[in-house]
Amino acid sequence: MGSSVEQNILVTGGAGFIGTHTAVQLLKEGFKVSIIDNLDNSVIEAVDRVRELVGPDLSKKLEFTQGDLRNKGDIEKLFSKQRFDAVIHFAGLKAVGESVGNPRRYFDNNLVGTINLYETMAKHNCKMMVFSSSATVYGQPEKIPCMEDFELKAMNPYGRSKLFLEEIARDIQAAEPEWRIVLLRYFNPVGAHESGRIGEDPKGIPNNLMPYIQQVAVGRLPELNVYGHDYPTEDGSAVRDYIHVMDLADGHIAALRKLFDDPKIGCTAYNLGTGRGTSVLEMVAAFEKASGKKIPIKLCPRRLGDATAVYASTEKAEKELGWKAKYGVEEMCRDQWNWANNNPWGYQKKL
Ligand code: NAD
Ligand code: WQD
Repeated sequence: MGSSVEQNILVTGGAGFIGTHTAVQLLKEGFKVSIIDNLDNSVIEAVDRVRELVGPDLSKKLEFTQGDLRNKGDIEKLFSKQRFDAVIHFAGLKAVGESVGNPRRYFDNNLVGTINLYETMAKHNCKMMVFSSSATVYGQPEKIPCMEDFELKAMNPYGRSKLFLEEIARDIQAAEPEWRIVLLRYFNPVGAHESGRIGEDPKGIPNNLMPYIQQVAVGRLPELNVYGHDYPTEDGSAVRDYIHVMDLADGHIAALRKLFDDPKIGCTAYNLGTGRGTSVLEMVAAFEKASGKKIPIKLCPRRLGDATAVYASTEKAEKELGWKAKYGVEEMCRDQWNWANNNPWGYQKKL
């Protein structure tokens, strides 16, 4: 691909955790970025900090619209004003536990929102999409590392929404071969921008390991519950493939370039992980080392539905996208701690 100076990318859910980090990298790479987000799980301050990080010149290439993908009119307004070369589609709800209690909300938001997006893209002849899928589509894999051609299965409504959306993408592309769609299956995104200005800021008590550890470290929560200490792993705790959010952001740029360069891409899935597994207890130790803080833990029974060990095969992304994660657990913990230490209450000034 030549210079990407004029390429205009719509980023749905761009005010969120992965979206903000990707927006910074896109702007730095010379893309124009238009974010649409309903701020359901994010705040406008996060977008202001993206502007601050890229500086006044690149900020001029960033546009933000508060809008909801469930309202087709909100998407139509954007497409009727400008031409987009591609869409990176992050917008979605992602809390597994909440999805079990309220599946309608998950299917309405994740499925209806995405179908509206495809309809509007098709109408305006924008047929390139990078979609946020998840390692959740592997369910509890029988073998590791997870390869892209493994059988897919979902364990909960959130996971099913991702699985359905992968199937929908494959069906749309099969019916209309001019579509180019990359499905990125993220493993466990953690860490933060090295500046400590943007990072993950979950509402309420965190569900995921790293934000929970972070809140224990800054004194917002008393101790970490370690779910499961009798897994058949080296230390008895479960193993995951944690990936630095900046590596993930760069993976989106590699995926975009693939879309622009490869007319034969069709609808293709790639794992974005490091290919390395780290246990919960190893993650706690790494965070303690990075932060100098003791993380008190309580050993608890396994969490329902959790797999023993999940990590990615990274071969396909390396070979076809030319992308490979650069950062290890040490950098993930260093940057996550930097974010936490500078913003103990996330984007809120104070509680
Ligand atoms: P996030 O919640 O921080 O960001 C998602 C953003 O989408 C939020 O800002 C939210 O306000 C917005 N949004 C949700 N529904 C919307 C709608 N209908 N219209 C407009 N905006 C809407 O989450 P994230 O961690 O940045 O995740 C981004 C994507 O990656 C999601 O699709 C998620 O399912 C997927 N994913 C995340 C992880 C993870 O662990 N963070 C792992 C695998 C996949
Ligand atoms: C990691 C490990 C927990 C919290 C989830 C989604 C998946 C994807 C990524 C979106 C597990 C243990 C956790 C805590 C703990 N998201 N843990 N104490 O479950 O691998 O994946 O996020 O697509 O779909 O399911 O990530 O961070 O929740 O858990 O011991 O307070 O940490 O049991 O072994 P998970 P996680």
